[in-house]
Amino acid sequence: MSLLTASARNAQTFLPIGFDGGHGGAKAIVNGGRCYVPAYFKRLTFRPHELPPTGFVEYQEGTSNPKTKCWYVGNAALEQDPEGVLRIGDNPKGKVEYALEALLGILSHLPYQSHYSLFIAASIHDAKTLGDELLTALSFECIAKFNNYPTATKIKSKVLIVREEGHPALLTHKHEVDLNAQNITLDIGNGTIIASLFGTKGRLVDRKPFARAGVQRLIADIASSDEFTRYLGGEIANEQYIRTALENPNYDQKFQYGTTGFNFKHIYDAKLRTWVESSLAPAVKFLKPWRANASCALVIGGGVLLPGVKDALEASGFVVSSDPVWANAQGLYELTQMLKLHEVA
Ligand SMILES: Nc1ncnc2c1ncn2[C@@H]1O[C@H](COP(=O)(O)OP(=O)(O)OP(=O)(O)O)[C@@H](O)[C@H]1O
Ligand SMILES: [Mg+2]
Repeated sequence: MSLLTASARNAQTFLPIGFDGGHGGAKAIVNGGRCYVPAYFKRLTFRPHELPPTGFVEYQEGTSNPKTKCWYVGNAALEQDPEGVLRIGDNPKGKVEYALEALLGILSHLPYQSHYSLFIAASIHDAKTLGDELLTALSFECIAKFNNYPTATKIKSKVLIVREEGHPALLTHKHEVDLNAQNITLDIGNGTIIASLFGTKGRLVDRKPFARAGVQRLIADIASSDEFTRYLGGEIANEQYIRTALENPNYDQKFQYGTTGFNFKHIYDAKLRTWVESSLAPAVKFLKPWRANASCALVIGGGVLLPGVKDALEASGFVVSSDPVWANAQGLYELTQMLKLHEVA
């Protein structure tokens, strides 16, 4: 039975969403606007007394069965439990398991609306195996309450399409890439590195996800390094704080561990070398036989923004996306624009 009454249906807000629920962060383009939420989750067995202005979801009723009725997403989760936040990469099926929590988490970062009717284009690292499960997880009707908003929101969600991660980036870069030729993409994500070959018209010919080879592995190596442990008197460093530092656009802050004043650049330099050899190089090697015949070898994913990585890849002939973190989500959003009109009609 539909949770939305007829009058509510008329009032609902049709919202196209390109949803890239990554291991590191949920990237959503909602009605043309960007919303990034770090992929941290804290499931709650109680309803907190004081609620944050963003990042809190209370699932009241609906067609899905979330693990808990209340949860924090993103920085609200990190703030609540910096050592114990749940991450998508902790579970091989995490992108499916956390899909609902992440999507509603995105909505909790938007201004209040009484109704939503979502039209979603989503992606996953292995759409062949997990695509149907992701589609099911993101297709629902529910009533949820966000943040400290006084009233609840009715939501109905329809998935228009699920693509392999990285594929939509070709659409984003359609003016720079010759889609009548063969192309390669290399997606350096938080959890996975994915190497893909596309034939004419963007047809996916072959691809290989390198699981647990993404930037999180480098971050974990830095956190558990002897030098960090020595500095912290025997404790392992907090991976989230290292990630936040590396993402800082201000170079002076890139290697600062929280507010401790400890600069970990020397550890980064040593561990980057190991990560490049063990994680990035195998993906680049996998692509080698195709390079000679490819028109473009496009690099996407936030990992290319790590200090030193972009220059090295460009020096070996790769083209780095001008918007690597968002290239996949942008292409997904373009798909909603192509498919939505047809669905709504
Ligand atoms: N400006 C930046 N500088 C350095 N690192 C960055 C920057 N932006 C993002 N990253 C890092 O790049 C990594 C990959 O980011 P991205 O958003 O592409 O991953 P994801 O899509 O969430 O993960 P996956 O594709 O594995 O599911 C993250 O670990 C993130 O910390
Ligand atoms: Mg990604």
